[in-house]
Amino acid sequence: MQRLLVLLGVSLGLGGPAAQAADEPKIGFLVKQAEEPWFQDEWKFAEQAAREKGFKLIKIGVPSGSEVLTAIDNLGAQQAQGFIICVPDVKLGSAVVAKAGQNKLKLMTVDDRLVDGAGKPIESVPHMGISAQKIGELVGKTIAEEIGKRGWKLEEVGAIRVSYDQLPTAKERTDGAIASLTRAGFPGANILNAPQAKTDTEAAFNAAGIAMTKNPKFKYWVAFGLNDEAVLGAVRAAEGRGVKAGQIIGVGIGGSKSALNEFAKPMVTGFFGTVLISPKRHGYETAMNMYEWIKSGKEPEKLILTAGSLMTRDNAAAVRKEMGVE
Ligand code: GLA
Repeated sequence: MQRLLVLLGVSLGLGGPAAQAADEPKIGFLVKQAEEPWFQDEWKFAEQAAREKGFKLIKIGVPSGSEVLTAIDNLGAQQAQGFIICVPDVKLGSAVVAKAGQNKLKLMTVDDRLVDGAGKPIESVPHMGISAQKIGELVGKTIAEEIGKRGWKLEEVGAIRVSYDQLPTAKERTDGAIASLTRAGFPGANILNAPQAKTDTEAAFNAAGIAMTKNPKFKYWVAFGLNDEAVLGAVRAAEGRGVKAGQIIGVGIGGSKSALNEFAKPMVTGFFGTVLISPKRHGYETAMNMYEWIKSGKEPEKLILTAGSLMTRDNAAAVRKEMGVE
């Protein structure tokens, strides 16, 4: 009898926790590089949204195109209602949109915006990214000012642009840095392109090493790229060539654990600073927006671009607190 009542209760929607768990929305959060602290922070803040709203967050690392497509099918099989994704290659755009549609999943992107076959952004998919050009400009301005403070002669400075131009947000970031450096009078001929094969420290280390070896004439170095990992790779490559911390200025973008570990070292390194961006907005807010979309049909804004603030060894704690990412 008791069993019958329980069954009845469930079918009438009066069930206990088990019945609620079955009803709770499921939202996927798929990221291209789960090993990167930035993406771990995004997940952490998305989990916070899941706890507050009572939905289940399904986190999946998707380092390749085939894993992306498999993961989306998995979400469909688990009867998720939607997902947020940072793809490993923006050219997967049309395939991701199609797969999401087949599985009846709502789709939002974060960090890297999908492009179509012609390379144009897919504007129908709600996206949250960083204001890449502006943030890049802040990187370049910071480097130019620090060169000035150190009194370096511009002709003696080589700039390493760790690049990943197939990703539009990456190109905008480094273009922004170059724009500021050029405005400050930095000679274009001293800017060395160091294309990385992947967006991690190892690939940046290799790319920067090649650029430095080919250009032995410079006494001082500056380095910039799409994220902290890119700049850390360049700084490590310089160290490996005997460049002292005082002879290189690296400014990254991110401000997650990769940068904080560097600032925590007892000796100052060539990693001068970073533009702190907000994993809280990118993780918590995207997850909240997806939840609202599922719950009330309120579609998220089509494009949100977030800002960043300069963070150095000296002001790291204060800047992080100000941005609410403690
Ligand atoms: C890209 C980069 C990440 C991070 C995000 C921020 O995805 O690969 O390291 O900088 O952008 O939006």
